[in-house]
Amino acid sequence: MTTPTESTVLTALRAVRDPDQGQDIVSLGLVKELHVHDAEVSFTLAFAGQSPATKAALHSSASKAVSQVPGVSRVSVKMGSAAGAGRPQAPPAQGHAHGQPGAPAGDFIPEVKHTIAVSSGKGGVGKSTVTVNLSVALRQSGAAVGIIDSDVYGPDIPLMLGSRGRPGMFENRIIPVEAHGLKMMSIGLLVNEREPLVWRGPMIHSFIQQMLKDVMWGALDYLVFDMPPGTGDAQLSLSQVVPLSGVVMVTTPQEVALLDVRKAIGMFQKLNVPILGVVENMSYFVAPDTGMRYSIFGEGGGRRLAEEYGVPLLAQVPLDQDTRVAGDEGMPITLRRPDSPQAQTFRELAVAVQRRVVELAALRPLPTIG
Ligand SMILES: Nc1ncnc2c1ncn2[C@@H]1O[C@H](COP(=O)(O)OP(=O)(O)OP(=O)(O)O)[C@@H](O)[C@H]1O
Ligand SMILES: [Mg+2]
Repeated sequence: MTTPTESTVLTALRAVRDPDQGQDIVSLGLVKELHVHDAEVSFTLAFAGQSPATKAALHSSASKAVSQVPGVSRVSVKMGSAAGAGRPQAPPAQGHAHGQPGAPAGDFIPEVKHTIAVSSGKGGVGKSTVTVNLSVALRQSGAAVGIIDSDVYGPDIPLMLGSRGRPGMFENRIIPVEAHGLKMMSIGLLVNEREPLVWRGPMIHSFIQQMLKDVMWGALDYLVFDMPPGTGDAQLSLSQVVPLSGVVMVTTPQEVALLDVRKAIGMFQKLNVPILGVVENMSYFVAPDTGMRYSIFGEGGGRRLAEEYGVPLLAQVPLDQDTRVAGDEGMPITLRRPDSPQAQTFRELAVAVQRRVVELAALRPLPTIG
């Protein structure tokens, strides 16, 4: 295996130019405190008079450039000033809250137009796969999209988006990681992969709040939450802290999955969270050699569920080997094979979700006065 060195890292950083000064960041003396330890690289960008936009752009380009150096598995870039480079930055958990104490967290993301949760009662049905591909498809339609991986038990989104960078800090706020044109945050980016996560309800609550209050999301059309399986604390917390535009419920066609999903829909309804509709994943399998269609997990479950609750069946996604490989390799199928029927299904899902969000917003009763 290749081990990165200071020299290979600096060579990569020389490709990053300050757009205002037209020179690379190493020559400008912006790179300080470079440490290369095995596969982990950390350094500080000691900014002088750059605008906030330039600082954020340079931070993102520099972490990307270093993450592409062979052998690098983790990159941590601090933002400092020329005078105070190396001053310890507050770790994310101590980032101060912006806004009024006690204000609902929805108020902290005024620039986010729609918030969507992807949930299910059951594990392993494809929530994370739907989250990344729906988000990419929304992005491909021109929307600005962010993802919050709320699965504190098994954060899969960084892996599925092939994202290895660490989020940076700027003026005590967290800069989300960028992957394939999406902004993304995950507990997986903040803690060591090997550390066991013994998260309890109250901690999930504060994690979700922090993701809304302390992360610089900027203007987004959609912020998509990938939820952990079940009907537990994360679902409750999320619906309490954000006025969700709605939930996409993912299921497989068979009856045991439907039972759990019914429980989950019941919970969201009690919490007054609108159901955008149902995605039936792993609906069928088309044998590549014969073209024969097999209903491996049964048939019609998604449609029955949608009819039962009077919500749309948003998509039926086939079981497809490339979709699984794409997730494992960090390049979602919507990007890996944009011409595939699978990618087309996700684009149709994005259109259906967009339409439904608008429709539900129009249906929402106006607040009553007095
Ligand atoms: N349509 C599909 N075709 C093939 N493989 C799929 C499909 N959807 C999901 N998978 C694969 O199934 C596995 C589980 O999917 P995923 O991680 O998206 O489910 P999940 O509901 O998020 O799971 P968890 O409850 O553990 O968070 C992954 O390996 C994924 O690549
Ligand atoms: Mg998942």
